Amino acid sequence: MRSAWICLSQNTQILYLIFCLCHYTQAITIQVPRNTVTAPVQGSALLSVDITCIGTPTIRWMFSSVNRQQRIAAWVLGGSANVTQMYEGRVQTHPNGSLTISNLRLQDSGYYIITVTEMSGSSKDMGLVLTVTEVLYEDIQFLVVFVIVLGTLAAFLMLCMWLLNKLYHFIKVWRQRRCLPDHTETELQPL
Ligand SMILES: *[C@@H]1O[C@H](CO)[C@@H](O)[C@H](O)[C@H]1NC(C)=O
Ligand SMILES: *[C@@H]1O[C@H](CO)[C@@H](O)[C@H](O)[C@H]1NC(C)=O
Repeated sequence: MRSAWICLSQNTQILYLIFCLCHYTQAITIQVPRNTVTAPVQGSALLSVDITCIGTPTIRWMFSSVNRQQRIAAWVLGGSANVTQMYEGRVQTHPNGSLTISNLRLQDSGYYIITVTEMSGSSKDMGLVLTVTEVLYEDIQFLVVFVIVLGTLAAFLMLCMWLLNKLYHFIKVWRQRRCLPDHTETELQPL
């Protein structure tokens, strides 16, 4: 009887908690069309988000990877952005809370976290993964394939020429052999 009571109270507590959480998080929604973005070195990446909330929120973008954590930019939506010195000139903030990072480097690969904070103080996070790919590597791969194809083509052409050469000699010998008896005959006849 007593244990049943505890179970019930626990359940109601959990339900109440879920209700509170729902109520708490309802105010802010962050929708991410693509939560993994891939871009090449020197290129640019748009970390696109769609935010709905009450009032004017504060947006904060953070970068996080295995070996470092870095603030990127913070701004009150509609106002001017406070961009960290390290990212100055490389980062563009959009009115919808999205962020564009240009002139990408390999070290920019990692996890990007957006924090949306409402006037009331409630906030919500969302993470995106950015992968910066090395173009050079792809170029080298392409070059290797190109060289292999070219080499194969050259080898094939050389084989063809060798075969043609053989064929030419064979035909020459064959024709000489065919002509020879006639010559000997015509030459021998007067004798
Ligand atoms: C946010 O704004 C940028 C720039 O105007 C746009 O490219 C992007 O698609 C927008 N994102 C969403 C989710 O609407
Ligand atoms: C901009 O960021 C710097 C460093 O985090 C901080 O000291 C400064 O107060 C910020 N300025 C504004 C207007 O938020």
